[in-house]
Amino acid sequence: MKKHLYIETVGCQMNLLDSELVVASLRRRGYKLVDRAQKADVILFNTCSVREHAEEKIYSALGRLKHIKRQNPQTIIGVLGCMAQNHQANVFQRAPYVDLVVGPGQLHQIPGLLDEVAEGTAQRLEVSLDRKGFAKNEIEQSFEAYDPLRTPEMRPSPYQAFVRIQIGCDKFCTYCIVPKVRGPEQCRPPKAIIAEVRQLASEGCREITLLGQTVNSYQHQNGSITTRLSDLLLQLSDIDGIERLKFVTSYPCDMTDDLLQAVGSLRKCSHYLHVPAQSGSNDILKRMKRGYTVEQYREMLSRIRHYVPDATITSDFIVGFSGETEADFVLTKALVEECRFKNSFIFKYSERPGTKGAMHHVDDVPERVKKQRNNELLDIQNTISYEDNQVRVGKQYEVLIEGPSKNADKHNSSGPLVQLAGRTMWDHIVVFEGNPRLIGEILPVTIYEANAFTLFGEVQTEHVGPEVYQLSS
Ligand code: 5AD
Ligand code: SF4
Repeated sequence: MKKHLYIETVGCQMNLLDSELVVASLRRRGYKLVDRAQKADVILFNTCSVREHAEEKIYSALGRLKHIKRQNPQTIIGVLGCMAQNHQANVFQRAPYVDLVVGPGQLHQIPGLLDEVAEGTAQRLEVSLDRKGFAKNEIEQSFEAYDPLRTPEMRPSPYQAFVRIQIGCDKFCTYCIVPKVRGPEQCRPPKAIIAEVRQLASEGCREITLLGQTVNSYQHQNGSITTRLSDLLLQLSDIDGIERLKFVTSYPCDMTDDLLQAVGSLRKCSHYLHVPAQSGSNDILKRMKRGYTVEQYREMLSRIRHYVPDATITSDFIVGFSGETEADFVLTKALVEECRFKNSFIFKYSERPGTKGAMHHVDDVPERVKKQRNNELLDIQNTISYEDNQVRVGKQYEVLIEGPSKNADKHNSSGPLVQLAGRTMWDHIVVFEGNPRLIGEILPVTIYEANAFTLFGEVQTEHVGPEVYQLSS
């Protein structure tokens, strides 16, 4: 009999990829994915620890499972990923009916661990070593990257894929839990990455997003041969079938000229860069140990504009970090206004036990002030995003059609048409009406309207042949 699997994922693209790979490995062993925890034999949560709120949400979700476990004690409940590594056995204390706690470095063990628990083994905890108190190579080995071969039908979209090129982080920004829970920075050999992308291309994948916490710090040494991200992009560009290459997240100090040159000159490279600034105040950046000043960030932006004049740039900001004064916040607002990011992800500072930030600085900005600053910065960013998108009205963009839009069900389309969504080479989301057969195609779309987050357009199908034209007209 098939076992039923339910999985919930929170957090970043790295987690989405991890979940995809865990699901793939379990499907290969006969598990069937279901959409409700109530129907499942195995319930997994792939978790995030970046902010306290994300962890608390998982504990609430686990709380709601208590009665499922009471009704059916055979149900296996697992907590995976960053919170598993962060809280370790404490998860069992807060939720004693959890069977498995598995860190991001042990995901490959999940099928075996599930078998053991099903056979009656007690609770299992599998996590990596602490970053202190062990030899460097032991720690690195304990954070094992999980990149098994995947099959196309298991990917969320056949036309796009995330490909991990780096795990962990060595930057140790003082607010951030990632270096603790994801371990030391380790870069995957280019050979393995190229093989994976070739395989994805042969399966019809057209867009690859390379993942790393500081993806542009990627560097792999093999004897005398050094491969940087720019070298990797060049090699990946040669793979037939791949049309678009993106990479996230970039670290401002590692935005080197060779990389920007590659982005500017390689036809397949998306002109989109996510380079979090975090704050516009030098005092705060220093306390965050970000390793750059506002002036240096600005200089980096001007180099981006030099090599990739039409680049869209997005950023992250933390508001209400320890000691952030009104004057610091004014500087952050000024930076957002000056840089005109395509969009910014704005977060209220959440103190993370175990970080240098929590150890050395008091979380002294009241929640009310954090909220106020968050809203204010968001308003500024949204106005900029809206204004920039208005300039795009009337223009035509090549759009990789990803699938039905989020509102496809609610949208009143006529005949065989549905509301579709896709992205430009600059990472703008474009929504338009079209035949679902267009999904996976790259087609020109003319924009007729825009808000701060979305461009609305009309697909131009004339040049792709009468068949498609007829279907979508
Ligand atoms: N509190 C709030 N935001 C945080 N981020 C990372 N750590 C914290 C924290 N402790 C934000 C940063 C980062 C993004 C992924 O999450 O802006 O770039
Ligand atoms: Fe966290 Fe800083 Fe590493 Fe980004 S660079 S993952 S913010 S420690």
